Amino acid sequence: MSQAISSGSGRSGPAPESSCSGSVSSPGKTDYGNGRPCRICRISPEEAGLYDGISEMIVVTGEKKPNAAPIGIIYRNGRLFLRLFYGSATCRNLESEDYFTGCVTTDPFIFAESCYGNLGPEYFEQNYYDIGRGLLQAPSLRSCDADRITLFRCLSRKRSEIALLIDIEPVVTIVTNSRRGMPFNRGFSALIEACVDLTRFRLSGDHEIIQRLVRYQGIVRRCGRPEDKEAFLLIRRKMLEYSENRESEKKTDIRENEA
Ligand SMILES: Cc1cc2nc3c(=O)[nH]c(=O)nc-3n(C[C@H](O)[C@H](O)[C@H](O)COP(=O)(O)O)c2cc1C
Repeated sequence: MSQAISSGSGRSGPAPESSCSGSVSSPGKTDYGNGRPCRICRISPEEAGLYDGISEMIVVTGEKKPNAAPIGIIYRNGRLFLRLFYGSATCRNLESEDYFTGCVTTDPFIFAESCYGNLGPEYFEQNYYDIGRGLLQAPSLRSCDADRITLFRCLSRKRSEIALLIDIEPVVTIVTNSRRGMPFNRGFSALIEACVDLTRFRLSGDHEIIQRLVRYQGIVRRCGRPEDKEAFLLIRRKMLEYSENRESEKKTDIRENEA
């Protein structure tokens, strides 16, 4: 298990009280932070910042020992679920645990470190959620490292050959930082990469970029929101246009050289 990288941003130490004090996403509905209980209120996926597609979050599980991993929360045709490939600690924990937190963060180190090992204990905090029949203690990323923390409940589990599928529902969501609290979506970032590559292709005509675009297209189709998919069509159309222009320029060059 890898330990946290100590950095100038104070990532490895406990956060100053003020930077960890979370604000509440729906005033009057939940109370939150630093050991104070949250009142339960079942919410819609949209209220938890989840839209059609796959939202990449840091999922924190582990009643005994917190574990973090980047996991896609899948929201498709009104169904919210996880697909956990066997072998991960997250999968093992959620075979038996009924609650976990999904943390939205834009911290690339948290993504990187938690995808190849666990985070150090200094990355986690424990909070209490009132789930009706008592207080539930659940670990999450520290509120100063997460833009949003959502407590999810596991509703049902189904096994496929390669993965455990778990239907889930959001229970409480807290926007902890003043940023938008939107989860990371690979479809959206693939679209951004495609935009960058389009501008490069216009300059270089490098055909490797077209191959990359095919890969981005796959990611946008699998993970993107409807608007990502729509915007991608514009990029693809433009890329074809640039490519055709280059081909006809080449043909003109050849004809001129032959003459
Ligand atoms: C952006 C991203 C999304 C991921 N989504 C999933 C997923 O939905 N299901 C899954 O089983 N693994 C997913 N992974 C892979 C796990 O994060 C990886 O296997 C990790 O090592 C599991 O850690 P753990 O053993 O601490 O649970 C994803 C990885 C990344 C980087």
